[in-house]
Amino acid sequence: MATPLNVGLVGGGKGAFIVHAHEKAIHVDGTRRVVAGALYPEPKVALEEAAAWPYPIRGYGSYDDMIAANAALPAEERLDYILIVTPNHVHYDPAMKAMKAGIAVFCEKPLCLTLKEASALVKTSRKLGVPFAVAHTYLGHWTTRFSRFIVQRGLLGDVRWVDSSYIQGWLATKLEATGQQQATWRVDPKRAGGSGCGGDIGTHALMQLRYVTGLDVTDVSAQMETFVEGRPLDDHFTVYCRLSNGGRALVRASQICIGFKNELGIDVAGTKGTLRWKQEEPERLTIHLPNQPDRVYWRGAVTPGDGFLPKDVPAELLAEPTIPSGHPEGFHDAFARLHRDFERDVRAWKAGKPFKGDPAKYAQVEDGWVGIAFLETCLKSSVKKGAWTAMPRPI
Ligand SMILES: NC(=O)c1ccc[n+]([C@@H]2O[C@H](COP(=O)([O-])OP(=O)(O)OC[C@H]3O[C@@H](n4cnc5c(N)ncnc54)[C@H](O)[C@@H]3O)[C@@H](O)[C@H]2O)c1
Repeated sequence: MATPLNVGLVGGGKGAFIVHAHEKAIHVDGTRRVVAGALYPEPKVALEEAAAWPYPIRGYGSYDDMIAANAALPAEERLDYILIVTPNHVHYDPAMKAMKAGIAVFCEKPLCLTLKEASALVKTSRKLGVPFAVAHTYLGHWTTRFSRFIVQRGLLGDVRWVDSSYIQGWLATKLEATGQQQATWRVDPKRAGGSGCGGDIGTHALMQLRYVTGLDVTDVSAQMETFVEGRPLDDHFTVYCRLSNGGRALVRASQICIGFKNELGIDVAGTKGTLRWKQEEPERLTIHLPNQPDRVYWRGAVTPGDGFLPKDVPAELLAEPTIPSGHPEGFHDAFARLHRDFERDVRAWKAGKPFKGDPAKYAQVEDGWVGIAFLETCLKSSVKKGAWTAMPRPI
């Protein structure tokens, strides 16, 4: 039996949010485990938080200490990858340092703060060949992967229109004024970056669009707006896009729509049919075909050659090593699929195989770069009242 991979956390102490979903996903297969953490910016608190972790982990006062200590550890205790779950301004530095120390990186989105940083991360990852994943959670749903197959196999014909959105309501009031941890840094340009809502959840909507359709955004006309008075970053983000195949798309996100929770969804309209999916009902997707009843597909209940699907649906989309359909999978399972696929790449790399990430499995560092390029292009367009603005050439 293979020894579990060792994961080190960067961030995750004192009221942190997303670390806990990752932590469950890391442990779900028994082949990965959290063994260390630099959980907080202040060293004393970081050590206290590590000592209070629900099971024993090695605590460090800083991620610098954690990375520096790694090489001197016995081989079986060394970190195989770090998970970066800090606010956006603390992504670049630990990611870069870990890669240079020969540690693979699983980094939260958005990748970093600027395109300059993103380019440096891509170049370093390519030069050193270190595995790098970006945590675009929703690529880990079976339905998202199945959608990708349907659209890219051409079953909907040519893609004409995509509406990819992520709508929330939790920042409809000035929550940051109460000191709420997750709100406070998300509205601070120094810690969140040049875009608030766009960076936080618009990047997920963009990633869904690119992953499912395989198309790139070539030009944007963006409106980045702030409804809550005194907030320095956008809380409402609407981007009309030209796509690389000549189609059009709307990438939209909002945090001020009261009652909306995590309404991420994608509609893809092609010349033969339309696909619709919503993350709040993640286990099913609907296909609309002209003059036919709707088709609804569920994980684990797919029949190749059913009159819409071809006979050669890939085996990995048919047989899922998880729970039977009808026992609902959700957010944690999506994270688990990403960590599971990343584990395979890290193990192969450790065994001496050059790392070549598969964008069908999880978002690559290049996808993180596109997210940052998109935000910077939207910012340029938005200050020019939505003037069409071209995306930079891919890196
Ligand atoms: N993929 C997703 O679905 C998803 C969901 C939520 C958040 N996120 C992303 O995850 C990241 C964290 O978001 P969150 O909501 O969990 O934030 P959070 O505020 O809940 O947690 C951030 C953690 O980082 C720690 N931290 C800050 N600076 C640090 C430093 N220098 N060294 C060590 N630890 C440090 C904080 O103390 C805290 O423990 C963000 O980049 C966010 O965009 C992604």
